[in-house]
Amino acid sequence: MSVPIARTVAELRTAVTAWRQNGLKIGVVPTMGALHEGHLSLVRAALAEADRVIVTLFVNPKQFNSAADLAAYPRTEHDDAVKLAPLGAHLLYAPNAADVYPEGFATTVSVSGVSKGLCGASRPGHFDGVATVVTKLFLQTRADLAFFGEKDFQQLHVVRRLVRDLDIPIEIIACPTVREADGLAMSSRNVRLSAEQRLAAPKLPEVLSASAARLSARAPVELVLAEARQAILAAGYDEVEYLELRADDDLSPLTAAERPARLIAAAWLGGTRLIDNVGVLPGQNKGELLAAANAA
Ligand code: PAF
Repeated sequence: MSVPIARTVAELRTAVTAWRQNGLKIGVVPTMGALHEGHLSLVRAALAEADRVIVTLFVNPKQFNSAADLAAYPRTEHDDAVKLAPLGAHLLYAPNAADVYPEGFATTVSVSGVSKGLCGASRPGHFDGVATVVTKLFLQTRADLAFFGEKDFQQLHVVRRLVRDLDIPIEIIACPTVREADGLAMSSRNVRLSAEQRLAAPKLPEVLSASAARLSARAPVELVLAEARQAILAAGYDEVEYLELRADDDLSPLTAAERPARLIAAAWLGGTRLIDNVGVLPGQNKGELLAAANAA
């Protein structure tokens, strides 16, 4: 069993038009390929909710900040198609750059507010590139549902904002981060880690989880963030690019954990930049729950 591949908008539309005429619900999973278990979990979630699932595979040049990073991005279309086939995805849409950005392409979708800071600070234009390609993929696929991982938490907010602002008729479904057995968030970039770096890498989620638990128990934010930075560096990371507490619902910066929030970070291990985030639920730590239970 193999997955049919559409290379052009015309081929994609032929399939989509027939599905829509039959009243089928369409789900899309946008990817840049190099599929790992995190992507496959999005595909499974899509298959559970939609009648037809399109996986898009396009390494989007507009969201890369350097030509070297774009060139180094893994391109593994054959392996990706092999991984998708047993899941039962209905179509792989793998367009050429010229189909996505034809000669004369001059439009940019730019989402202010949530694109600023965090990854937006060090990767100028990155979220404009994401917003532009995602808008195109939504309009090309005419999907009813789109599935995104929470690991790229800021991206998820950017996509939600643009869908609301532009009245694109698609529901955005967020799926939990999939982790390796040692806690490291799955990412196409993990393969770039040396054996030694791979051993140090899980310290990032470990520190984030421990710090999130302290913040949930209302430990002072400034202190927790400073100690977490130290712990990440002590574990062998070379740089903590950012480590911030942001509101879960609108990504606004928080100086106190007084509402559901995310502890969100980017850190460098050698030449590899890893991102991760963990939820902070004020008052939901084990100690407080126990205290509440005892008091009841
Ligand atoms: O998360 C990704 O892989 C990309 O940013 C996306 C959403 C496929 C857009 O190119």
